[in-house]
Amino acid sequence: MRSLSLRSPAKLNLFLQVVNKRPDGYHNLETVFERIDLFDDLKLTLNSSGDIRVFCDHPDVPTDSRNLVFKAAQLLKDDFALAEGVDFVIKKRIPVAAGLAGGSSNGATALLGLSRLWKLDLTRRELLAYARALGSDVPFFVHDCSWAVGTGRGDRIKPIRLNRKFWHILFVPSIKMYTKEVFEAVNLELTKTNDDVNIFTRSLKKSDISVIGGLLRNDLEIPIIKLVPDLRKFKDYMMALKAQGVSFSGSGPAMFGLTENRERAEEMMGVLQKQFSQVFAVRTF
Ligand code: C5P
Repeated sequence: MRSLSLRSPAKLNLFLQVVNKRPDGYHNLETVFERIDLFDDLKLTLNSSGDIRVFCDHPDVPTDSRNLVFKAAQLLKDDFALAEGVDFVIKKRIPVAAGLAGGSSNGATALLGLSRLWKLDLTRRELLAYARALGSDVPFFVHDCSWAVGTGRGDRIKPIRLNRKFWHILFVPSIKMYTKEVFEAVNLELTKTNDDVNIFTRSLKKSDISVIGGLLRNDLEIPIIKLVPDLRKFKDYMMALKAQGVSFSGSGPAMFGLTENRERAEEMMGVLQKQFSQVFAVRTF
């Protein structure tokens, strides 16, 4: 086998508590990840030149060693002293630098694909070690699960066994957020509250979506809005559509609402699309 075509999904954070700041500069989190059916396509083809090459149709995606698929290939190539190279072709659908972890998902998908193409037979544990080296959001995508709790940097993953699927309206304002800047603007005095992640996961298992909607939490919201005050207007606009709870994903600016069903998500999409691009009706995947 010389070539593989894989789908690389996006995520939402339904709950994100910033617990504290660590000596290494990162923040400990308690977060709930949900995989959604918004995908990039990633095609991997081995080459005999030995080079790692990245081709992407989106102008904001780096095609050099800054791209996480490039880094994934470089790590494996060095560790296993591989002579072959690989060409990646990325078809981008997941908005870039939006809080949806598109780049992280591409990196995880590259690790999974290369382990097969290069016949490395990496265990989940080995894949996770590489994933952690690529970034905090990468390990979630190495797990084959729709739902998970993330702790540590968000990189310690405990899958949640849950068959529920939700529909969402997802809107990504055309503003770039820088994750580092958002975390730097967190006021840790404001993130200390008792509603812990276990309460959220319990409600995820048994409550109706109006209850879950009321429990959505993202401690990055205050710094996100502090950095880009206009985002409050967009969030108010989303809330006026009467989704069951609206929240940002990750460090934004992507924001989503829970909806009762597909029809409601598509109805809201129709309204938002009159004014904005980057509006999606998405489902748990
Ligand atoms: O791990 P990743 O490279 O995606 O993180 C980007 C930046 O976001 C980090 O350099 C750090 O400043 C911030 N971050 C953090 N705490 C986390 C995850 C990210 O402070 N748990």
